[in-house]
Amino acid sequence: MISLEKSGLPLYLNEKNHVMALSALLEYESYKRKYVEDMKGLLEDEKKLNPKEPFYDVYRGIDYPHDRERFRTYEIRYDVTVIMPGTVNGECKKTSGHYHGWNPQKTKTYAEVYEVLLGTALYVLQKSRNIGATGQVSDTVVDDLILVIVHAGQTLIVPPGYGHASVNVGDGPMVFSNLAYIPCPVLYDTVRYFHGMGCYVNKDAEGLHLKRNENYAGLPRVKYATVREDAELGIRFGVPVYKSFQKQPELFRFLAQPEQYSDEVMSLLDYHDSLSEAIGKGGIS
Ligand SMILES: [Fe+2]
Repeated sequence: MISLEKSGLPLYLNEKNHVMALSALLEYESYKRKYVEDMKGLLEDEKKLNPKEPFYDVYRGIDYPHDRERFRTYEIRYDVTVIMPGTVNGECKKTSGHYHGWNPQKTKTYAEVYEVLLGTALYVLQKSRNIGATGQVSDTVVDDLILVIVHAGQTLIVPPGYGHASVNVGDGPMVFSNLAYIPCPVLYDTVRYFHGMGCYVNKDAEGLHLKRNENYAGLPRVKYATVREDAELGIRFGVPVYKSFQKQPELFRFLAQPEQYSDEVMSLLDYHDSLSEAIGKGGIS
């Protein structure tokens, strides 16, 4: 068993089947596994697929019973996702990708917190100003496309306005936790309509290869970024997000109020000239 100690919780991953075990003190609401067949319509090359090959697992609503009231008060949920190792027709395994719905004022969409617990993540972020505005997914225009490299122990805040998908670029399983605002609507249609996010991430013996998804018209140039911490938003690398929330849940109010924190969240992205520069000296684990 691999201890997912970066979570600060008694979570363990079975090295063989990549199923997660929780200590009896922790509880979770639901578990769901996605297979290759569930990802049809989102993969770059779907010519030959093994439909029952596991893709990723989601454990929703993990908490200690004594923290439940705190999560309920702030309407926040803590989930863990395990993306399986390996590629499908050369493409790294990934989550399906989605956009978030709007705040009540319809000025911003909700943010989300992603903390990498094991492996290396590449998050595809794509901004669409008009998401959901016309009610027509075909009208979606991607204004900004950012690939963010996040190493184990680091945390990304997905900025308001950005659709997002998580990609496992390492050789083993990639595990991340998220803090999500429960009332936030999750919109899958746009990403499915365009057959995935704006960029596919492939991997071979030479390394990672990016491929633009030409189903989107007028896709902007891809940007590369890493993440910065921000103690005022409860994000300190090496300090588990669960623990930060336990101690100071009020710091995470930006999840419910994206309109006030949008600029601050954007400033946590640190841009680089290339993907290899974003990956850095440590490489991919
Ligand atoms: Fe999300």
